[in-house]
Amino acid sequence: MGKPLRVAVIGLGVWGEKHIQALKTIPEAELVAICDTSQARLNSLSAQYKVPNVYSDFHELLAREELDAVHVVTPEPAHRDPVLEAASRGVHVLVEKPLATSLEDADAMIASAEKNKTILMVGHVLRWDARYAMAKDYIDRGEMGTISSIFARRSVSRSQAPVFLSRSTPVMQLGIHDIDLILWYTQGRVKQVYARSSRLLDFKYPDSMVCLMDFEDGSRAVVQNSFALPETLPYFVGARMEILGQKSFMVLDASEQSLFISDERGYQMPDTTLVPMVRKELVGTLRQEIEYFARCVLTGTQPTVIRPSESRNALEVALACERSLADDRPVKLG
Ligand SMILES: NC(=O)c1ccc[n+]([C@@H]2O[C@H](COP(=O)([O-])OP(=O)(O)OC[C@H]3O[C@@H](n4cnc5c(N)ncnc54)[C@H](O)[C@@H]3O)[C@@H](O)[C@H]2O)c1
Repeated sequence: MGKPLRVAVIGLGVWGEKHIQALKTIPEAELVAICDTSQARLNSLSAQYKVPNVYSDFHELLAREELDAVHVVTPEPAHRDPVLEAASRGVHVLVEKPLATSLEDADAMIASAEKNKTILMVGHVLRWDARYAMAKDYIDRGEMGTISSIFARRSVSRSQAPVFLSRSTPVMQLGIHDIDLILWYTQGRVKQVYARSSRLLDFKYPDSMVCLMDFEDGSRAVVQNSFALPETLPYFVGARMEILGQKSFMVLDASEQSLFISDERGYQMPDTTLVPMVRKELVGTLRQEIEYFARCVLTGTQPTVIRPSESRNALEVALACERSLADDRPVKLG
């Protein structure tokens, strides 16, 4: 093996720490620096994961460190600036989903990566989940026939509501995963969306949403999301997808984790797929995504599992759903 990639992580919240844990298991990548505006977070994570260089300002990080790649794991409105600056310095970028909070920002990021000939990959992590990827292979082999309708639900416990519902709507936080998968599976163009919401909790954004997507070919999809499930929920995320095609019907129950534990704390189904820890190391889908990105950077190849234009298409649909909700009417896409 040649020299490992020099990688930094910007944004050290819950998910940024998962990126660190994944990078620590990938021999092709060396985590050389981390960055967060919170000094307390920097201090604790640099000590815990033995990261040599810490920065509270991403401009300084990118100016001082010689990096091959950076992972941008800041909150959604704070993706744009570090992504643009990294690309302008020739640094490859893995940015978390959703790519941006506006199409203007998304277009600027994509244009910057093209201009600087850098890789820009958006972490739509479910594209590496074997269950969703197998569904894609099945559809691509033509075994489903023409897809007529898709129903997707992704909902989590209300314990996650305070962080996420102060930032944006359930469709932007949760639904974006299924919108991306639906566009990936159908390869179709959305003509119109109609979104409705309901509230059980008192946050800036509504806790529950349902979005109807009409495709140009007459097929339809429904995406339902909630941050209002009870805190006693035994699993991390309740996710289900049903796909009806001309020749078959497929059900993907991604809440199912195959490990059931009943003890004094109640009934639990720990995560065994997305970010599980095994023998004190992170395994699972996020790790696979990060390893794939590292290999693309090492070999100088553009990712094919997901392309920036696909992330932009998912964002366009999610933003249209948010507009539909705000204006209380169906919204046509251009
Ligand atoms: N794929 C998934 O399943 C998944 C799951 C969770 C989060 N995410 C995504 O990951 C991203 C981060 O989410 P999170 O839940 O970890 O958020 P978070 O709010 O927990 O953490 C964000 C961190 O970024 C830091 N930060 C903010 N602005 C910064 C800046 N300009 N420079 C450096 N640091 C900055 C904050 O101090 C904070 O520590 C979001 O895009 C989110 O949608 C993806």
